[in-house]
Amino acid sequence: MAPLLRYAMALAMASQLVLSQRIEVECTPSKKCPDSKPCCSQYGQCGVGAYCLGGCDPKSSTTVDACVPAPVCQSKTFKWDNLDSVAPNTKYLGDASKADWVASGQPLTTGGNLLLTMAPETVGTLLASNHYMWYGKTTARLKTSRGKGVVTAFILLSDVKDEVDFEWIGSNLQDVETNYYFQGITDYSNGDTFKTEDTFNNFHLYEIDWTPEAVKWSIDGKVVRTLERKSTFNATTDQYNYPQSPSRVQLSLWPGGLPSNGEGTIEWAGGLVNWEHPDITNHGYYYATFDEVTIECYDPPANADIKGDTSYIFKDASGTEDTVQMTNKKTVLKSFLGTGVNMTADYPSKSSSSSSSKSPAESSDVAVIPGLTGGGPGTNGQRESEGKNNKDGDGGDGGDDGDGSPTNDWDRPATTGFTQGNVDGPGDSNGASSQNEQMLRGSLFAGLVALTVLVTL
Ligand SMILES: *[C@@H]1O[C@H](CO)[C@@H](O)[C@H](O)[C@H]1NC(C)=O
Ligand SMILES: *[C@@H]1O[C@H](CO)[C@@H](O)[C@H](O)[C@H]1NC(C)=O
Repeated sequence: MAPLLRYAMALAMASQLVLSQRIEVECTPSKKCPDSKPCCSQYGQCGVGAYCLGGCDPKSSTTVDACVPAPVCQSKTFKWDNLDSVAPNTKYLGDASKADWVASGQPLTTGGNLLLTMAPETVGTLLASNHYMWYGKTTARLKTSRGKGVVTAFILLSDVKDEVDFEWIGSNLQDVETNYYFQGITDYSNGDTFKTEDTFNNFHLYEIDWTPEAVKWSIDGKVVRTLERKSTFNATTDQYNYPQSPSRVQLSLWPGGLPSNGEGTIEWAGGLVNWEHPDITNHGYYYATFDEVTIECYDPPANADIKGDTSYIFKDASGTEDTVQMTNKKTVLKSFLGTGVNMTADYPSKSSSSSSSKSPAESSDVAVIPGLTGGGPGTNGQRESEGKNNKDGDGGDGGDDGDGSPTNDWDRPATTGFTQGNVDGPGDSNGASSQNEQMLRGSLFAGLVALTVLVTL
């Protein structure tokens, strides 16, 4: 009780930074985004700009092509001597040749390793690969975080919410959870847990090997689980409930044990996060440590619709493998005002006096960066201004403002601009809760870090 109270008080003290209202899921396949903000983010919110980049859900956006084409797979090994290959989500406009990863939260490097950190009053850190993988193999050598309610994840997640997971609950360092989803459909029989040794103190090598026929999960070079596509056939819907669409690799550390999360999620995560854990008192944050990460691309499926080699698009909103096309379409927005249907949309001329002191994000009247606050007052139902929270007060990092100020992109605490998923469904604050909670518990949103902490004091 006491820690919970303390945490609640901490949140209350941070209340200027937090809206005491729930952020609801705005868009679903049956309730698509409006034309004015056509892109449905990974977190179920409508906007433009980064909402239309990685994670943009073609099933719930105004039209499928509101989402910007997704950069095709690129085989690569990632080391972490620096964060040069990681762009903050406030800067990334879709050029995967310039940044391999897009991040929210606070990634750090130490001794050639990547640290995902989670400080008090934050919701941790998420890295997502900017190149999508349409079948391939990804490996990560990592040490998890630890502690109740602290979740480390290494997953594949597609824009239509196909998902293949490795997850670790910080209160149980011997267990490795594996799971998969087809288009986010909850199915409790999909999860399976395996034993290993002390995931916090030891590096282990985790691998997801994903082909059109099967997914194989390996630990330290040994296959522990195989999922055959043919075993996933659903006769009612006449389709394979098998992960089959281009996916981003996501590395994350997030608080499953936040009071604002659903009870099921908290229980799954091993309880509420203790913000006075030794890792917090000694380092200031929880952390997960990633050594080398690799992505190895496989060929697209044999019958794939190949019209180019630059990007993946969906031809319709069914989101299945046969509706994916490889194209030469570009993937880069000119500004955070762009969308897949107007990629050259740009900010109003900089000479206009009133906007000169504002970041592009702030001068926009629609939300441009999911889960972030930089959308400016009132734009996203979120907290007021990124600037308030930015020590050097440069008013946020949106876009290519090119002001040359020596800002540290990671200086910005993730604080309350993000949280772990939504608990409420669209237009339904009662009946849908438990279902959505189940989705959360089932980790549909594993590795998703978004929106505002839901303060339910
Ligand atoms: C098949 O899909 C239907 C409709 O989504 C669902 O109700 C049913 O439970 C599924 N069957 C299996 C075996 O998963
Ligand atoms: C794209 O957006 C710009 C605003 O930046 C607008 O002037 C232009 O008309 C738009 N183009 C289309 C095709 O909608």
